[in-house]
Amino acid sequence: MTSVEPGSAEPRRPHAAALPLLDADAIRLGPWLAETADADAEALARLHADPAGMRYWSTEPWTPGDRDRAEAYLDAIDAGAREGDLLQFAARRSGEAALVGWVTLYRIDRTHRRAEIGYLLDTVLWGRGLGRRMVDLALDHAFGTLGLHKIEADVDPRNVTSCRLLEGLGFQREGLLRQRWRTGGELQDSAIYGLVADERRA
Ligand SMILES: CC(C)(COP(=O)(O)OP(=O)(O)OC[C@H]1O[C@@H](n2cnc3c(N)ncnc32)[C@H](O)[C@@H]1OP(=O)(O)O)[C@@H](O)C(=O)NCCC(=O)NCCS
Repeated sequence: MTSVEPGSAEPRRPHAAALPLLDADAIRLGPWLAETADADAEALARLHADPAGMRYWSTEPWTPGDRDRAEAYLDAIDAGAREGDLLQFAARRSGEAALVGWVTLYRIDRTHRRAEIGYLLDTVLWGRGLGRRMVDLALDHAFGTLGLHKIEADVDPRNVTSCRLLEGLGFQREGLLRQRWRTGGELQDSAIYGLVADERRA
């Protein structure tokens, strides 16, 4: 595995330089890197084509190997970052270059100091606490560096792991929006979670 040290690698696109490298035990978040751009696009296409990983998503799994879609996805990340309403971190194992997931802060609203959070981790790594650690790192950035007051999440209530992850980080379930998404012919509810800055500090 190639090692990517903090500060030694080129960000994939200029905006990514705004993202710091955040480290937790065994997982880290950071920018999309120029030197891993091809491998990242390939990994994104694989992660988003995994039916288990996409089970409760509001879109259907991608067609396996859809590199064009991965590139378009990365372009959308750039556009969101340029507009200032989206920041997406690449997640990698500590000391390794391979992309294993991502965490996104989106609908970043500077006026109300609020954003939503989404995340995905490679299914082969599930159940080891890595998901919680990477979301925790992104929350540090959201409440600390960005100075946000509230983070919200929209989760299918059947997605027990994601609900437990959020609850373990102090999120409260604030409500249920019924039959909000139609994915692959299936209607999905949204459990709306929220975490405010005071609760985070506590
Ligand atoms: C959500 C996700 C990131 C969790 O990653 P993970 O590394 O497996 O999660 P963790 O190991 O940190 O565990 C988080 C919590 O879920 C629990 N958990 C883990 N696997 C579980 C399982 N199979 N069933 C029930 N609970 C489970 C853990 O015990 C922990 O809760 P606890 O602290 O109360 O014990 C991962 O499942 C994922 O990428 N899912 C697909 C994408 C997705 O659904 N994203 C969320 C959309 S809003």
